[in-house]
Amino acid sequence: MQDIIEQLDGKRRAARLGGGSKRIAAQHAKGKLTARERLELLLDEGSFEEWDLFVEHRCADFGMAENKIPGDGVVTGYGMINGRLAFVFSQDFTVFGGALSEAHAEKICKVMDQAMKVGAPVIGLNDSGGARIQEGVASLGGYAEVFQRNVLASGVVPQISLIMGPCAGGAVYSPAMTDFIFMVKDSSYMFVTGPEVVKTVTHEEVSAEELGGATTHSTKSGVADLAFENDVEAILMLRRFFNYLPLNNRGKPPVRPSDDPAERMDRSLDTLVPANPNKPYDIKELIFKVVDDGDFFELQPDYAKNIVIGLGRMEGQTVGIVANNPLVLAGCLDIKSSIKAARFVRFCDAFNIPVVTFVDVPGFLPGTAQEYGGIITHGAKLLYAYAECTVPKVTVITRKAYGGAYDVMSSKHLRGDVNLAWPNAEIAVMGAKGAVEIIFREDKGDPEKLARREAEYKTRFANPFVAGARGFIDDVIQPHETRKRICRSLAMLRDKQLTNPWRKHGNIPL
Ligand code: HXC
Repeated sequence: MQDIIEQLDGKRRAARLGGGSKRIAAQHAKGKLTARERLELLLDEGSFEEWDLFVEHRCADFGMAENKIPGDGVVTGYGMINGRLAFVFSQDFTVFGGALSEAHAEKICKVMDQAMKVGAPVIGLNDSGGARIQEGVASLGGYAEVFQRNVLASGVVPQISLIMGPCAGGAVYSPAMTDFIFMVKDSSYMFVTGPEVVKTVTHEEVSAEELGGATTHSTKSGVADLAFENDVEAILMLRRFFNYLPLNNRGKPPVRPSDDPAERMDRSLDTLVPANPNKPYDIKELIFKVVDDGDFFELQPDYAKNIVIGLGRMEGQTVGIVANNPLVLAGCLDIKSSIKAARFVRFCDAFNIPVVTFVDVPGFLPGTAQEYGGIITHGAKLLYAYAECTVPKVTVITRKAYGGAYDVMSSKHLRGDVNLAWPNAEIAVMGAKGAVEIIFREDKGDPEKLARREAEYKTRFANPFVAGARGFIDDVIQPHETRKRICRSLAMLRDKQLTNPWRKHGNIPL
């Protein structure tokens, strides 16, 4: 018996070495942690339960029958993050470059299936050379099995991808279907076709980092939510992020008690909005001053900055925050910001996270680039997302809410539960200048008269009381009491019940 126990220990030790000490050293030399080191950091100490340590590939071609490494290039199992269950897979670049074989895919599918049965998130740490070339179509089949599970898990359990090495070709589509993608700068990249192919086809010369690095995807393409300096930072931030999320779509996010009083007033908010309505201000200042302890986890901070999205807490309860930011493009909605916010609203809705919306939007961004790019379809995504959303929705208009954008931004008409406005809010079909130029076209040659008309229009419409008179705004509030009013609204809405009509699924304008 003792022999067998020792044999087991020996087998485990050998398996844990993955591709061996030389390849581990090479991994470290690139500034990367190994698959196991990453899991050690991600999961609570001693909580990792590994599965399938002894799984091997079944490929016999190209001398592979003699080249088997237990675990087959991916470490899988489950563990705890701050005491809460998560399923994990971590690709091991030291074993066949982390390339995905049929057996490797089966290991990933096994944890995904179990996560679905017990209702727990799946976190994937990606570091792979793609399809295991020696296995050919068996590997492609393996990818598709993972893709199918990504789709079935979408909206059921949170799925998060960390890209910590290569992720190329069709392999990118598994992370793409997860809820969030975090990347590591300089050591990770994602692209459908690499620099060589790009050069051949389009004659563009571009490095892997420029084409699909963390900075590119977190600023230009919007594929990634966040870019981190190194593996350690990415993993520690993921642990923090995880605390905001529920384990599945039937549960609520954990409540983190806070000493920050719900009734806390902030007088500085009374002067946040400049007297001149054309002057910008940073909406993030409001967000930081309203959430518990000023703790806001922003997503996609460097992409489509005209809208801010992220998670915070109010009285300990996780909330999703969406806010137009007048600091960029005057807070206009455009293609990128509409898509960014729509996807986030749908995530919150799927996972029982109330949505708090701060509105300061002069309208949709005009121009041929926007129209040719399909702002009609993309703007409709945000409208659709808010309209189908059944979680509690609290909206505060801090300044402008004009035209279609007023409707879109979680208005009362889209089943906004509590819609508040600051006293300086301007809620109207369009800005005063544009409005009078249309309805008083005959006065075009008389600038003085036009200015009078504009002032008249402003007094009449550029305020929150016209909307208030119709009940489109539930109350006009003092800026300094914003936190208190949102907290009370959310407390009132805690047991909100609302369901959409039965259907197989809607047809969001994709
Ligand atoms: C099998 C692979 C592999 C792969 C790397 N390796 N990629 N083995 N299948 N796809 C092995 C290497 O042979 C090497 O083995 C070890 O992993 C490390 O690779 P290196 O090349 O030494 O590392 P590095 O210089 O860091 O380069 C990493 C790399 C490169 C850029 C990822 O390895 C590479 O270009 N690999 C091929 C990528 C690729 O074309 N994949 C298939 C794409 S198609 P040894 O024994 O020497 O250590 C695809 C389709 C998916 O993925 C479709 C899904 C629908």
